[in-house]
Amino acid sequence: MSDPYIQQLFAERIGGADYGKSTAIYKFEKIKRAKTAARKAQPGVELIDMGVGEPDEMAYPQVIEALCTEAAKPENRGYADNGGPEFRQAVSRYMKRVLDVDVDADTEVIHAIGSKASLRILPLCFINPGDVAIMTVPGYPIFGTHTKYLGGEVHNIQLTKENDFLPDLDAIPADIVKRAKVMVLNYPNNPTGASATVAFFEKAIAWAKANDIVLVQDAAYASLIFEGKPVSLLQLPGGKDVAVELHSLSKSYNMTGWRISWVCGNPLIVKAFSDVKDNCDSGQFLAIQKAAAVALNNPQITEEISAKYSRRMDLLVKVLQEAGFDAAKPKGSFFLYTAAPKSATKDGQTVSFESGEDFSQFLIKELLISTVPWDDAGNFVRFSVTFESKGESDEARVIGEIQSRLSQYQFSF
Ligand SMILES: Cc1ncc(COP(=O)(O)O)c(C=O)c1O
Repeated sequence: MSDPYIQQLFAERIGGADYGKSTAIYKFEKIKRAKTAARKAQPGVELIDMGVGEPDEMAYPQVIEALCTEAAKPENRGYADNGGPEFRQAVSRYMKRVLDVDVDADTEVIHAIGSKASLRILPLCFINPGDVAIMTVPGYPIFGTHTKYLGGEVHNIQLTKENDFLPDLDAIPADIVKRAKVMVLNYPNNPTGASATVAFFEKAIAWAKANDIVLVQDAAYASLIFEGKPVSLLQLPGGKDVAVELHSLSKSYNMTGWRISWVCGNPLIVKAFSDVKDNCDSGQFLAIQKAAAVALNNPQITEEISAKYSRRMDLLVKVLQEAGFDAAKPKGSFFLYTAAPKSATKDGQTVSFESGEDFSQFLIKELLISTVPWDDAGNFVRFSVTFESKGESDEARVIGEIQSRLSQYQFSF
């Protein structure tokens, strides 16, 4: 069939008339295909999925119960627009209780249909053609993708171990700083698992103020921490002058599919976000907002979830270290990011890896362990401790299985 006229109509931002013709296979599709092939090749062997970026369990029962109750109420049935007061007020209380941040429920908080949606709406508030957004790599790319859709430019800063996976603000070229309107931060970070220090946030606030730049701190993993108290940029003097923070119930309350999150902080940015959002969606179902408010009134849920990830992380770090990996337990998130080996040897036979992707493919094909490779700033793989297990004792069995599979090889780094 010759190209229908539709093919000629696609916007340049998605490839124009060539849209859909590329044969390149994207990372997550490659992983999916490798998993299918590995399952087929070794049907009797359990596939251990350490690649999943979302919780392995359901939302807590009291939250589900609240959803059922609220879903049955006629007053919750309609468009929610920019959100009901219950959720905003619960956010305001939560921010004070968990993060020691004061945010006004009416002017400094707005709900969103997930932080992914927020990261696509925020560029619409700031980016004109030619404007620069500063992002970090490896990282969650949505803000950058939409910046480019709008004719803006993305300046990527590499996150490296030498800098504790924090961006080196002093190394950003002066012309980029001059043209930049927004810098996106994400701590605790996906995929590196790194946390920001208070000193870094303080520096970022001063830098943003000095250079007329807005900070967007993607705090999707903020309260999933293994020690101490969660840190918010908005806790710090001047934070609210320059920043908004994006929080989400997806990871911290096992509510990924529910699509509920919030943006809070600088009231003018929150207002602009609300105005643009109003033209993008009609709000999350009020029953979900009210059930989410119940979740936020119970921050111990997140503490329990964090304790589970912490326990699993301890087991995994030990096993990886024993196999020779330079693995260290992160302070939060559920990601363990570790340098890929250069080779693996078994029975005198050596396989070499040029990249994190090579190693990740080897892990899935040979050992049926699925991970996510990251090659933007060195060759790394990301293990996620969201693997499925049948209770606590089964966690040790799963990690024991990883240990026994890795122990067949001698890794060189
Ligand atoms: C860093 C980061 N930000 C945002 C999101 C998306 O969160 P949500 O489910 O609230 O859209 C994710 C999900 O993987 C993430 O890793």
